[in-house]
Amino acid sequence: MSLILRRLALEDEADVTAAVAELAAEGGHWSYRYRPDLAWADYVALVHGWEEGRDLPGDFVANADLVAEVDGVVVGRSSLRFELNEFLRTLGGHIGYAVRPQFRGRGHATEMLRQSADLLRARGISRILVTCDDDNIASAKVIEANGGVLESVVPGVADMPKRRYWL
Ligand SMILES: CC(C)(COP(=O)(O)OP(=O)(O)OC[C@H]1O[C@@H](n2cnc3c(N)ncnc32)[C@H](O)[C@@H]1OP(=O)(O)O)[C@@H](O)C(=O)NCCC(=O)NCCS
Repeated sequence: MSLILRRLALEDEADVTAAVAELAAEGGHWSYRYRPDLAWADYVALVHGWEEGRDLPGDFVANADLVAEVDGVVVGRSSLRFELNEFLRTLGGHIGYAVRPQFRGRGHATEMLRQSADLLRARGISRILVTCDDDNIASAKVIEANGGVLESVVPGVADMPKRRYWL
């Protein structure tokens, strides 16, 4: 398996549009920051700007919203946050990820988190916080496979405790 974590590109429109619908269909989300109201090229430019801290929504910190490509198909996305604000320090963490349902169980998220953590370390972030809902067994396995050490389980949103791990 050769997984490439890279910037969003103009040619990703069909894959990402499909991914948004797939994640929504299972009651989740592809990305909280997806903007269906924008033309695709404008959305791509917006996402690229977030890396430099431009046009960030609300109190979001600068971040790289990357896609994972395997055999020419976008299978997942990973958001790398370059710093922690209060919400991220408590619940959100440095890295958020999702894999399209039909591509799960192949180790993609484990590899995405590995590469994402390496990219943050390359920016000088040596302690990386990764969180997941207490009942998200798959995500907990992904984090633990990357050497995540559980620090605490804290109250989350909607009565779901959140596991906080450090890589
Ligand atoms: C969590 C998620 C990213 C995992 O993606 P993935 O590509 O399937 O992950 P991987 O294949 O790298 O590893 C998943 C592990 O969980 C296991 N797993 C998957 N579903 C499971 C379940 N319901 N119960 C127990 N283990 C499960 C897999 O067997 C695998 O473990 P293994 O490596 O020991 O075999 C994916 O399920 C997803 O996108 N979920 C929705 C969004 C989400 O929850 N994102 C994370 C937010 S913290």
